[in-house]
Amino acid sequence: MRVLSGIQPTGRFHWGNYFGAIRQYIDLQTEDEAYYFIANLHALTTVRDPEQLRQLTLDAALDLLALGLNPEHAVLFVQSDVPEVSELCWLLMTGAPMGLLERCHAYKDKKAKGLVADAGLFTYPVLMAADILAYDADIVPVGEDQVQHIEVCRDLAGSFNHHFGETFVLPKPKLLDGSAKVPGTDGEKMSKSYSNTIELFEEPKEARKKIMRITTDSRPMEQPKEPDGDHLYQLLSLFADEAQRREVAALYRRGGFGYGEIKKALAELAEKYFAEARARRAELAASPETVSEILGDGAARARRKAGTVLRRAQEACGVKPRG
Ligand code: ADP
Ligand code: TRP
Repeated sequence: MRVLSGIQPTGRFHWGNYFGAIRQYIDLQTEDEAYYFIANLHALTTVRDPEQLRQLTLDAALDLLALGLNPEHAVLFVQSDVPEVSELCWLLMTGAPMGLLERCHAYKDKKAKGLVADAGLFTYPVLMAADILAYDADIVPVGEDQVQHIEVCRDLAGSFNHHFGETFVLPKPKLLDGSAKVPGTDGEKMSKSYSNTIELFEEPKEARKKIMRITTDSRPMEQPKEPDGDHLYQLLSLFADEAQRREVAALYRRGGFGYGEIKKALAELAEKYFAEARARRAELAASPETVSEILGDGAARARRKAGTVLRRAQEACGVKPRG
């Protein structure tokens, strides 16, 4: 089985990204083969400042490595370092029905809001299909919002195979556990689009400030509260062990506590939880040549695989002689 997924460097990673995606990528890295990449070409549809895109791409690599992505297990690379994918994207584009892309939500939502979409956003799912098909990926771990794109990928691969003969492996999505769930500081889904995030490696002082500002209800302290469904309790549960969770749940049900105490406990637990990764990140950041070696090696391995798949597709559709 070959696992593959990509994550966009459109902002610094936050708790939602970690618990909803990154942690599970890391758990899956010991599958037969795992490919993970930083989707900077996709990010280019939103990040239009070149220095910022470069920095966010590097930050993403540092974060992933610090959190435990191990280049001995997984191939880690930057999307744009594999030009074969962009070429494959064109081959797929020639068979991608407009109607199929018009139904894709990223484009549809933007259009519904009356915003001007560009061709990059419109064809985004085709590039994503090329990302997946280029590595003969079997399993693509993704959040709910990306499942539609995997369906598009299967459609495009299926019709290419039908027209030109068996060329691509049809991938299956693997829905990430809890990918819809980590709440933000306002109780809505944590997302950089809602400015309610707590980033993984922001300064502990800044993180603490954000944690202290997590919205809570205004019921009096004495009143017992139900922990289930309370977003502060949900956030604490991400970091607490079973005993700590039970203790806090009992406190909620008994009443007579201040949310401030819970927030302080959350800040401490979260800081401790990421302390080791933070130290590793600092070490890696001080050794840029190690990071570029890891990404260079990842890109070389990714290109080898993508090159054979591209050749197969080129031969199948007649833009290269049969080998
Ligand atoms: P954002 O919503 O901040 O822009 P992305 O859409 O780039 O985040 O998400 C990258 C990955 O992180 C996706 O797999 C997504 O499902 C996961 N993810 C993002 N936010 C959350 C969240 N609040 N809870 C769980 N998973 C999340
Ligand atoms: N579009 C995905 C997201 O926004 C990122 C991505 C790009 C991806 N290419 C991919 C995910 C290929 C899985 C497979 O989260």
